[in-house]
Amino acid sequence: SEPFSEKLRVPEALTFDDVLLRPKESAIEPDEADTTTRVSKNVRLNIPVLSAAMDTVTESEMAIEMARHGGLGVLHRNMDIETMVAEIERIKQADELIIRDVVTADPEQTVREVDQMMNEAGVSGAPVVDDEDNVLGIISGTDIRPYLEVGESDEVREAMTDEVITAGEDVSPREALELMYEHKIERVPIVDEDNRLTGLMTMAGILQRREYDNAVRDHDGHLRAGAAVGPFEMDRAQAADDAGVDVLFIDCAHAHNANVIESAREIKAEVDADVVVGNIGTREAAEDVIDFADGVKVGIGPGSICTTRVVTGAGMPQITAIAQVADVADQHDVPVIADGGIRYSGDAIKAIAAGADAVMMGSYFAGTDEAPGRVITMNGKKYKQYRGMGSVGAMQSGGGDRYLKDEDEDEEFVPEGVEAATPYKGTLESELRQLVGGMQSGMGYVGAESIPVFKERAEFVRVSSAGQQESHPHDVVITDEAPNYSPDEN
Ligand code: XMP
Repeated sequence: SEPFSEKLRVPEALTFDDVLLRPKESAIEPDEADTTTRVSKNVRLNIPVLSAAMDTVTESEMAIEMARHGGLGVLHRNMDIETMVAEIERIKQADELIIRDVVTADPEQTVREVDQMMNEAGVSGAPVVDDEDNVLGIISGTDIRPYLEVGESDEVREAMTDEVITAGEDVSPREALELMYEHKIERVPIVDEDNRLTGLMTMAGILQRREYDNAVRDHDGHLRAGAAVGPFEMDRAQAADDAGVDVLFIDCAHAHNANVIESAREIKAEVDADVVVGNIGTREAAEDVIDFADGVKVGIGPGSICTTRVVTGAGMPQITAIAQVADVADQHDVPVIADGGIRYSGDAIKAIAAGADAVMMGSYFAGTDEAPGRVITMNGKKYKQYRGMGSVGAMQSGGGDRYLKDEDEDEEFVPEGVEAATPYKGTLESELRQLVGGMQSGMGYVGAESIPVFKERAEFVRVSSAGQQESHPHDVVITDEAPNYSPDEN
């Protein structure tokens, strides 16, 4: 039939619940599905997952754990620039094999002083050095203990072990471990040719790093880090870049804006880090940034705490948004990140089927131990706070320019997000295991052994509302909670 008006001849846009992956013949075991991917032109990940740049999701603790498990944490920007630099340094120094910031003791200090110093610094041993950093000995709890009662004012020189096993800068972790086992010691000072202290390797550090065999690291072996910068924040971008951030995310709710694009282009020209531009949700927006972006981030209003679509009337259902942007990005070999609206592992793998290389999630991680904020109890159930960066509370803490608003404190905000609570979930590691395991199973149903093959091979079918009801548990009363499905989230 004729539409009443040309205005109403409108295209349809789809989101996660509108589609399912068409099952295909498969010869792969889900566990074998290779989840490595790219988040930007020069940065690879081992799992296609990012934690959102939100002040209730990603600070250094989350970012460290994300990178250890193969993904990427993106620091939020509701913190001043110095704090962000310190956060990036914390990520870069985590799992450092050679500790550079070594706590040292002076031979003339008393045993009691050193004991107190080590307690305060949270270390159990310290190299003893003279004024010129020459290593004279090493002192540990075991050396100190016999003195603590009787001779606590004795000098360190008396109590320390003076036959120190040291190693040069070029020692490998394996060699260092062998030295430690052979001499029954737990730390090896690293020295230069003149026996001057340059660092310290500890057994705990080496063993801990071995545990994270899926970690993503930079060329110097440091964990990868991402950070959000405002569209006009050149100074933050440069400071984060100098601190060694790997990927900068231009953090804007609507990046298809001439001023934002111009400024993002200037930032890109000034930094070494890769620059991901977002958020966008259409083919035209992708075309306007694709010549300089190292990655593009998609999502106009799909987020769980987001009210952009109801407040502004604008938005793009996420599966269509991803597919439109990916059409353009693929031709330029630029990775696509799908940001927001993902509730289940099935949504995450659908996002990749639509053309994303990785997904960014907020609500999925906000309830974990590693997210900022404490656990609260309401009606006997545990929760953590989760709020939109466009909520009144978050905008009052800075970052209103994400919504291209002036940060004039006297004016009332027009929020585009809500402040909420999300169920407490325990460790990030177990959430990631469920998430990535579910995504790998999706790859199995499609018969794809890697993300690039999956993107090629995946096909969607359209689901009716009856089909959607059939997808969720139905006609039963759920008696036990599943680790990867919560009916509350419906
Ligand atoms: P999920 O669904 O994973 O979404 O919780 C996280 C993403 O939502 C975006 N975001 C917002 N969008 N108003 C919005 O319109 C907000 O207040 C807001 N805060 C975050 C952001 O892209 C995030 O990664």
